[in-house]
Amino acid sequence: MSETIGVGIIGTGLSATMHVQALAQVPGVRVLAVSGTTRQKAAEFAARYGIPAAFDRVEDLLAWPGIQAIHLCTPPFAREEYVTMAARAGVHVLIEKPMARDLLEADRIIAACRAGGVTLGAMFQFRFMPLPQQIKRELDAGKLGRIFLADCRAKWWRDPAYYAGSSWRGRRALEGGAVLINQAIHTIDLLLWLAGPVRQVAGRVATAVHPIEMEDVAAATLEFASGAIGSLVASTATYPGFAEQIELHGERGSLILNQGDGIAEWRLKDAAPERVTAAEQRAESSRDPSRVSLVGHIAEFTDFYEAIRQRRPPAIDGQEGRKALEVVKAIQLSGARGGVPISLPLTGSFDSGGPAALD
Ligand SMILES: NC(=O)c1ccc[n+]([C@@H]2O[C@H](COP(=O)([O-])OP(=O)(O)OC[C@H]3O[C@@H](n4cnc5c(N)ncnc54)[C@H](O)[C@@H]3O)[C@@H](O)[C@H]2O)c1
Repeated sequence: MSETIGVGIIGTGLSATMHVQALAQVPGVRVLAVSGTTRQKAAEFAARYGIPAAFDRVEDLLAWPGIQAIHLCTPPFAREEYVTMAARAGVHVLIEKPMARDLLEADRIIAACRAGGVTLGAMFQFRFMPLPQQIKRELDAGKLGRIFLADCRAKWWRDPAYYAGSSWRGRRALEGGAVLINQAIHTIDLLLWLAGPVRQVAGRVATAVHPIEMEDVAAATLEFASGAIGSLVASTATYPGFAEQIELHGERGSLILNQGDGIAEWRLKDAAPERVTAAEQRAESSRDPSRVSLVGHIAEFTDFYEAIRQRRPPAIDGQEGRKALEVVKAIQLSGARGGVPISLPLTGSFDSGGPAALD
């Protein structure tokens, strides 16, 4: 592989904009082409960001000389086909969250990349931000002792135009969910990374405010494999939108992480209160989808390209990217069945976790 890795971006929307801006700060990569739904949109995006080539067909982008990796910044319904094409062409794939609409689709995406011998990375940039990185190290070193309670809140606000202006957001067949699979999945992934895997959920979901097919409110109890219990509340209907929080309680004390505001507080029994701030991870994405911090993107992309060069899996590969999706699907299933407990891993007919399984 040549020193500089050639990258193609698929999609010209909000996440593509974040990717192209973050990629400009990643060493050893160069965006060579972009593909959009129309040639004109792709050409406009290319002109804005100084990208040499623009296409309206992913096939053409994959055939463009020097393309070694793609960033899939398309909606969830427009991913598997492109992953398969890229994997067959020997092109590495970084896929936006959620990596799929359901678990079977996620498994096919993972299998396609494995068969093609290409690296698959899944976006969950929260993990790469300064406070979660530091907290993970300290938890692994035993700072809280055994964690017995772990909960999270992702009470966001999306105004009506957010859904009205989109053909796919909140649609069962096209997105596979709404707040759980799009917004709260970031916080769920972070909770799982910090507190460990979940073995059972019981959830309630509702479409309370927005005229969409899927959930804009969700609540769940969680049972972790460690024996800890916890909870989740999530919404895109909670005006004006609040920074997401994770709270972990262990034998030695508590950690309160305000991820969106970039503040972590440790309250340990045998130490003075400790407050850590990270201004660079502050974001307003609880209120406005465009107001994100790019520090996590830059760090995740850097890891992904180092992984390709070093021929190792990236920190968040397909299996890692699938974990939060499985919890999302379990909460949706539980909610669709009146709150019955659902055990993980999802098996049997629950395996699809997709639109049909929710009927
Ligand atoms: N990690 C993050 O912080 C973050 C932020 C925003 C969005 N996202 C995720 O990125 C994905 C896209 O979201 P968005 O906000 O950019 O959406 P968007 O609607 O703004 O853009 C999607 C783009 O996909 C392209 N597209 C649509 N249908 C296509 C098709 N059939 N074939 C090829 N290209 C097609 C179009 O170019 C469109 O501009 C979603 O899964 C979303 O959850 C992640």
